[in-house]
Amino acid sequence: MPTGPPWWQEAVFYQIYPRSFADSDGDGVGDLAGIRAHLDDLAWLGVDALWISPFYPSPMVDFGYDISDYCDVDPLFGSLDVFDRLVEEAHALGLKVIIDWVPNHTSDRHPWFVDARSGRDSAHRHWYVWRDARADGSPPNNWAAAFDPTAPAWTLDDASGQWYLHLFESAQPDLNWDEPEVATAMDGVLRFWLDRGVDGFRADVVHCIGKDPALPDDPEAVAGIPHCALNDVPVTHERLRHIRSVLDGYPGDRVMVGEVYLLSTPAVATYYGEGDELHLAFNFPPLYAPWRERAWAECIGNTVEAFDARGAWPTWVLSNHDNPRHRSRYDRAAARAGEDEATVARRSEPRARAAAVLLLTLRGTPFLYQGDELGLLDADVPEDRRVDPGGRDGCRAPIPWDGSDTHGWPTVDGVVPWLPFPPDAGTRNHADLRRDPSSALHLYRRLIALRHGSTALALGTFEPIELPEGLLGYRRFGDGEAWVVIVNFTDRPIRVGAGPLPDRLRVALASDGIGEGGPFDGSVGADQAVVLGN
Ligand code: NOJ
Repeated sequence: MPTGPPWWQEAVFYQIYPRSFADSDGDGVGDLAGIRAHLDDLAWLGVDALWISPFYPSPMVDFGYDISDYCDVDPLFGSLDVFDRLVEEAHALGLKVIIDWVPNHTSDRHPWFVDARSGRDSAHRHWYVWRDARADGSPPNNWAAAFDPTAPAWTLDDASGQWYLHLFESAQPDLNWDEPEVATAMDGVLRFWLDRGVDGFRADVVHCIGKDPALPDDPEAVAGIPHCALNDVPVTHERLRHIRSVLDGYPGDRVMVGEVYLLSTPAVATYYGEGDELHLAFNFPPLYAPWRERAWAECIGNTVEAFDARGAWPTWVLSNHDNPRHRSRYDRAAARAGEDEATVARRSEPRARAAAVLLLTLRGTPFLYQGDELGLLDADVPEDRRVDPGGRDGCRAPIPWDGSDTHGWPTVDGVVPWLPFPPDAGTRNHADLRRDPSSALHLYRRLIALRHGSTALALGTFEPIELPEGLLGYRRFGDGEAWVVIVNFTDRPIRVGAGPLPDRLRVALASDGIGEGGPFDGSVGADQAVVLGN
């Protein structure tokens, strides 16, 4: 029996940042029961798989990416029992569930680190990376930590007189993966959740689990760039092959999606190995690309080149919990480029809608970030409510579920959600957009349905089309079907002209709904994206 492609190639993923998704108990922080309460909404949207950001016990210095117990649920979010029910209910709705795995570092409150810090001879000392100072008393090397690039990636432990490595906050000490016991403990973590039925993992900064054992200085030219964006050493690949074998030992095509935070697409592609390392990896250059057709054509071209060469399956992502939302990014860039405020406001949603068409029609697995489907902007977070050490609060604003004052977030004893809501939540919320067939929410739903209904869009070949300046176009075809996608990056309609397209195309989908269902008249509207079929 020939086997079809694995589910994660055809799936549309949806990232849930649990603190901000939905709250069930009125403490102002989202939780697992909140997710359960909205599974129907996600099934209605049509996504296939949920990636849930960390919900493990944590001191929350990095809001859960500092884990103090890998095999439990923080009471803030629920319990293992609630998690099990969530997985069961998601599965019953046909939704897969992947969870975050944070293998590079623990919390400094994790019992492993507490023990490691207790003395040079402690049992877990070697589970972390300890070094003496340099001769002049400075940190062991020049690596910069994330969040504050002026801060070294090392903290001096006064008691033992040695420094420990942390590529992120000092409360997030790096594990020493050269120590086989660390790898074995992490196998146990993976198995714990795989046995509970998760469909896979999103592996946090997984390209950092191997480090050059000599811990050499980063070159002067890049000093100040966080080391986590530079770390790229061969031993990681060996480790990934082992991790892959753990997942592949389970039935059901469990998936490992790696966060490979290297801003080079060819480098990211190497983390698929020969089909024996990561199943999928995030490729961030498109997320950082400006909203211009040349920049996007280049990102797409680089992806096709790097991934096709090794038979690797790409991913596409526009937004996540670490970066301003794409709508806000494009707005800010347009304002910087001299676009006046009124023009930015007018073009803001149309641009984000056109980007959604790209995300869901390119060749590769799309990842949506919660709230993308509502066309959300970042929240404006006043100084006194900022909480994140990395300044990422704006994109983590709570999801507005309805137009009431509390937007579907129960309030008990006057507690307000941990961050302010995004702009216009009174009208831009799930309930209101759901009632409006012309909304961004319905656009995402139609795009997902179109993709699901077409093997050519989900899995087919990609071929760029030469079009007039301002337009980006490509064909997706296979299985006897063909589609043409055209995105207009400008604020004026552009005629495609005779030649590049087949005759008698019809508009299967338009990002602004204009012309949808009718014949294609040869012109793509301002900030419009269209999917054309026969
Ligand atoms: C990447 C995660 O996405 C981010 O939120 C976190 O702060 C760092 N890794 C450290 O775990």
